[in-house]
Amino acid sequence: MRHQAIFCLLLQLIFELSSCAHLRVAPGSTLELPCLAFKTDFTAENINWQFNGEDISAQSLSSVAVKMDGWYLSISPVTAAHEGTYVCSVKDDNMELTRTYSITVVASIGYAIKVNQGSDVYLPCNFPPSSQVEIDALWFKETGGGKRTLLNQKETATDDSPRVELRYPLDHDQSLIIKETVMEDTGIYHCESTEGQKLSSVYLSVVVPPTLAPYSCSGFLTPWEPCQDENSRIGGPILQESMAEFSMKLYSYVRESHPTTNLLFSPISISAALTHLLLGARGDTRKAIQTAVCVPYDFHCVHFQMKKLREKLSSSLQIASQIYYNPQISLNESFTNQSMQFYEAKPVRLLETSEENTQMINDWVANKTKYKIRNLVDSVSPNVQIILLNAVSFSGHGKSSLNRNTRRAFSQNWMVILYGCLYSITRNTWQL
Ligand SMILES: *[C@@H]1O[C@H](CO)[C@@H](O)[C@H](O)[C@H]1NC(C)=O
Ligand SMILES: *[C@@H]1O[C@H](CO)[C@@H](O)[C@H](O)[C@H]1NC(C)=O
Ligand SMILES: *[C@@H]1O[C@H](CO)[C@@H](O)[C@H](O)[C@H]1NC(C)=O
Repeated sequence: MRHQAIFCLLLQLIFELSSCAHLRVAPGSTLELPCLAFKTDFTAENINWQFNGEDISAQSLSSVAVKMDGWYLSISPVTAAHEGTYVCSVKDDNMELTRTYSITVVASIGYAIKVNQGSDVYLPCNFPPSSQVEIDALWFKETGGGKRTLLNQKETATDDSPRVELRYPLDHDQSLIIKETVMEDTGIYHCESTEGQKLSSVYLSVVVPPTLAPYSCSGFLTPWEPCQDENSRIGGPILQESMAEFSMKLYSYVRESHPTTNLLFSPISISAALTHLLLGARGDTRKAIQTAVCVPYDFHCVHFQMKKLREKLSSSLQIASQIYYNPQISLNESFTNQSMQFYEAKPVRLLETSEENTQMINDWVANKTKYKIRNLVDSVSPNVQIILLNAVSFSGHGKSSLNRNTRRAFSQNWMVILYGCLYSITRNTWQL
């Protein structure tokens, strides 16, 4: 019987002992360490507790008590003096079993800091005011299993602006700054003097910030102002001037980033897409887009003129735009109506899956580009709120304003069709 019991005990112990228990406790708390997690018929004489290699009974440790005939050790209240290794051993004539606890007492100054992911955080640590500061404190992060890594080691800092560094080196304030926190920064940090004096411990938890309520456009309920004078002679020239100015701006911007290559881009396409977006923009957003496309703020006829321009060019240049929107957005009906009125585009709700949306968008693009572009997108993220597409297709029979070089470059059956691109410029600016 006895041997069977010991055999069982051994099996169970193999599990129990396979991991030495590392425990972290706060000062002032109560700790109860069981010797074995199950009952046996051993008695008090068989059980012995040691602390840092010495019999507990031989040490005069205050607030440590062996309870229940040795079955567990109780420490209350825990202080820094209790930090160390506790071993319970169960012995009889034939065998000895031990169980080990490694206890770390969190330094007396403890902070718990919660920070939103992406923001910067300071972990506090101070040298006592009376001390001289000649060497910086050391910051460690616990990495599990009783291990820790040093964070502010000068020799390893190769970065010019490291993400983790001391805020004020060689100051009494030895706070650590962690910039742009990520979830992995969550953990326990310790600040210690080089002599090992514990200065502070911080439990940092990085959390996902609460989702902000979507930017509200409430209060912006009015549809785009009607064009007062549709027959005005100056409406057309204003739009053309806006587009020319926008094109120049865009050209110099693109040229700057591609100084030596030929450029092929379509200001009209980009401008048309942004103007379509402008139809639904209000407040500061509206002003920003108007500035970007170089449209005067009081030029209410911009959409009407855009429609006229599209109709005027339609024999050689086909411009189409479309808006896809997240089903969680509800579009105001007057916007939908105006979108159809000016841009011949009824905004379309995005579908459930990325595959369905990819297919839908690529089909639209293929249709509008007469199958010159079939795979514009590979996937559509579920986070997408709105997709604005504009396609310009050019049927260059004769009337083109493009120069010869460009013609040669695209030659043959002469159909330059690109998403967001039309005017091909070989080191020349273009004319509308
Ligand atoms: C849509 O806009 C109109 C004015 O154009 C406004 O009266 C209406 O309340 C708006 N609808 C919603 C759902 O915001
Ligand atoms: C949108 O157009 C439809 C059909 O033309 C019309 O019945 C509806 O009143 C319009 N809604 C708004 C808000 O203009
Ligand atoms: C694009 O779709 C429209 C409407 O479905 C259709 O009439 C037109 O022929 C299509 N164009 C091409 C190039 O397939």
